[in-house]
Amino acid sequence: MIEIDTEILFEELKKARDLSYSPYSNFRVGAVVLTRDGKYILGTNIENASYPLCMCAERNAIYRAYLEGYNRSDIVCIAIYAETENYISPCGACRQVMQELLSKNTPIYLFSKNGSHIETNIEELLPFSFSGDDLQ
Ligand code: THU
Repeated sequence: MIEIDTEILFEELKKARDLSYSPYSNFRVGAVVLTRDGKYILGTNIENASYPLCMCAERNAIYRAYLEGYNRSDIVCIAIYAETENYISPCGACRQVMQELLSKNTPIYLFSKNGSHIETNIEELLPFSFSGDDLQ
């Protein structure tokens, strides 16, 4: 089982943040998915003049992991970072995507500006969620 090193995660998060395309909000977000084979998959927020088309960092990172052939069982953790005093808190849309594409207990690290972080998971972030099970 691969070790989770939050200092490395923070370095990767800053690289992801630097790639942000956010001319409308000027709110740069970085996300990183760590896979079981030790790969750090970066995501960042990509905005559009048509505002609803903006895509969050964490969704880009998760979708990118799936596009590279990984799935929930390959994902060791995800980390999210913004230059905020308090820990970044993922939006509702991203929580629903995490509910679908991450395992229930996959660690989710939320980082603040100075690199301090907390660990949570999707059950905590989105309790009583709607899922594929409800469609049976
Ligand atoms: N954003 C993210 O990328 N992740 C979050 O967890 C919160 C919000 C982005 C969307 C938009 O580009 C900008 O931050 C301001 O909402």
